[in-house]
Order: sequence, then C-alpha cells, then structure tokens
Amino acid sequence: MQDSYNRTIRYLRLSVTDLCNYRCRYCMAEEGIPKRAHGDILSIEELAEIGAAAVRCGVTKIRLTGGEPLVRRGVLTLCEKLRALDELRELTVTTNGSLLKNAAIDLKKSGVDRLNISIDSLSPSKFRDISRLGELDDVLRGLDAAKAAGFARTKLNVVLLGGVNDDEITDFVTLTREEDYCVRFIELMPMGVCAAFPRERFLSADAVLAAVPSLQPIGGDGVAELYRVPGYRGTVGLIRPMSRCFCAECDRIRVTADGKLKPCLHSSAELPLRGLHGIDLENAIRQGASIKPSRHHLAQGSDTPRGMYEIGG
Ligand code: 5AD
Ligand code: SF4
Repeated sequence: MQDSYNRTIRYLRLSVTDLCNYRCRYCMAEEGIPKRAHGDILSIEELAEIGAAAVRCGVTKIRLTGGEPLVRRGVLTLCEKLRALDELRELTVTTNGSLLKNAAIDLKKSGVDRLNISIDSLSPSKFRDISRLGELDDVLRGLDAAKAAGFARTKLNVVLLGGVNDDEITDFVTLTREEDYCVRFIELMPMGVCAAFPRERFLSADAVLAAVPSLQPIGGDGVAELYRVPGYRGTVGLIRPMSRCFCAECDRIRVTADGKLKPCLHSSAELPLRGLHGIDLENAIRQGASIKPSRHHLAQGSDTPRGMYEIGG
C-alpha cells in the first residue's frame, strides 16, 4: 500500500481502548478522560476485522496500543486472531507494564512477538509522581515476567522530561549493560495536556548523547536512531519527533479505539471505519493511507485535537 508521497505503508497501530490505569502528567488530566459509552469503542471482533483488512492491504506489522491495552478485556483473543493472519510478520504490544506480571505468559502464548514497555523513571517516588497512579515495582516485576516468558529485545520507552527525569539518563542507559533491552528516549511532543508545559520540559534527545558520550551510533530502526555503549548487550534508541523530522520514513497508519483511521498522528484528518466490511473496509484503509500528509508541523503545535491516550502514540 503506497501513499501519495511514495511511502510504503506496512505498519498499523491499533488502539484497543482509550482507558488507562495511569494518569501520566504529560498525557492525561488528573480526573482521567471523559468516559465513553461501551458501544462507542470497537469490539474485539471489529478490531480483528480491521487488522485482517489492513493485512490484506499490505500491512505486515501490527502494534496494539491504548490507553493501556492490557486493561481491555478480550485483548488476548484479539492477539490470537491477529496472529492467525498468514501475512502478518510481527505482532507487538505497547504497554505501561503495570499488569504484565500476570499477563506476560498469556501474551506470549497468544502469539505476541515483542513488547514495548513505558518506564519514565527508575525512582519509585518520581515514577509515582509522573504516572500519578503507577508503581515502579509493578513495572519492574512485569519486565522480569516478560523475560521469563521468553520475550527478547524488549523496548523500554522513556519520554524525556526536562528537569524531571533527565538526571536519570545514565541510569537508563546502564539498563542495557547486561540485558538485551533497547532503551528508547522519546522527545516530548506538545499534544493535549502537555502542550501547556513550560519550555524547559521539552528536551532534545541530544541531551542523551551529552550525558553518555560513550554511545556509538549503530544505524537506525524505523523512526529511532540506534546507539550502543561498546560492550553492552542492549541498545539505546533516540526518537526525535521534535529535533529531527522523520516523517519521510513514516510507514504507519493508526486506528483509534472508536474506529477512526488516522493517516497521521498529528493531523486532524480521520476516516470512520465502523460499519465497513470486506472490500469497502479495505478501500477505506487504502484511502486513509493515500491521504497521509507529507509531514507534521509540530513546531507550530499538533493539529490533532486528540490526546495520546486516544491514539496510542
Ligand atoms: N510525547 C511523547 N511521547 C508520548 N507518549 C505519550 N504522550 C507523549 C507525548 N506527548 C508516549 C508514552 C508511551 C508511548 C506510547 O507514547 O509514554 O511510551
Ligand atoms: Fe496511560 Fe500511556 Fe497516557 Fe500514561 S502515557 S496515562 S500510561 S496512556
């Protein structure tokens, strides 16, 4: 599936719920999100149908996102249904890790290939402060459970928050010494509640290279620049939506939990997919891919009125 700028679209990010058991300060308001009626959210069957249609259109990688995907009942059934698609090469899940301790084995059995786990601080009190409702220990146990279940090359997502967690950059990099993690530092994007954050919170990923001069570039992986400390098992990724626009390499489309295809994270364009089946659904997905804009204009702010919890990053 091609877009109008000759990019091949092969990656679908499917948000299975907009609910989350955290209230990260940069993502959600303290009181959470306006509750939707149950029927506003795609059913597991609809999610599987959209995944299957996307794969027929040429998608080879699907990532389940949220909100927090593991709070959604039926997510394992969805994984099994998607895994059964012959042409799907990779099924991954982005999770805040809080429920992984009890879910890792089942996710592995349901055919999930790899996990991305968000972890914004290694200090229990700071972790609690950033996520408002999270406990670092749950995530660390979740990481162990994922390893025990056989997940390898787990990606750890760290959103860089200037003045909050930039003093922990070396601690995060040290996690890659013995384990095959890829620790990925993500520049904070001004979307939703964090658009009003003070300037000093928005930090260039150059801060990582300054804090750990021994990092050596080793290429790229999708939208991430990859680095390694010589001799360390794992890798470090820098995701620079702000300091280096990677839109030209974008190969993704997104579907929100309420069934709208988003050609671009930062554009307000959305195509409703609900109620479409078979070839009509495929055509809508192809059309969505075809109207992907060439790039975002984040320097002027995001055009999407949605918060990250509705889109899944
Ligand atoms: N900027 C950058 N990353 C964000 N995430 C959520 N909101 C933002 C934002 N405004 C991250 C989450 C998670 C991933 C899906 O996106 O922390 O790691
Ligand atoms: Fe939940 Fe992720 Fe938003 Fe945090 S960033 S509140 S974990 S959806």
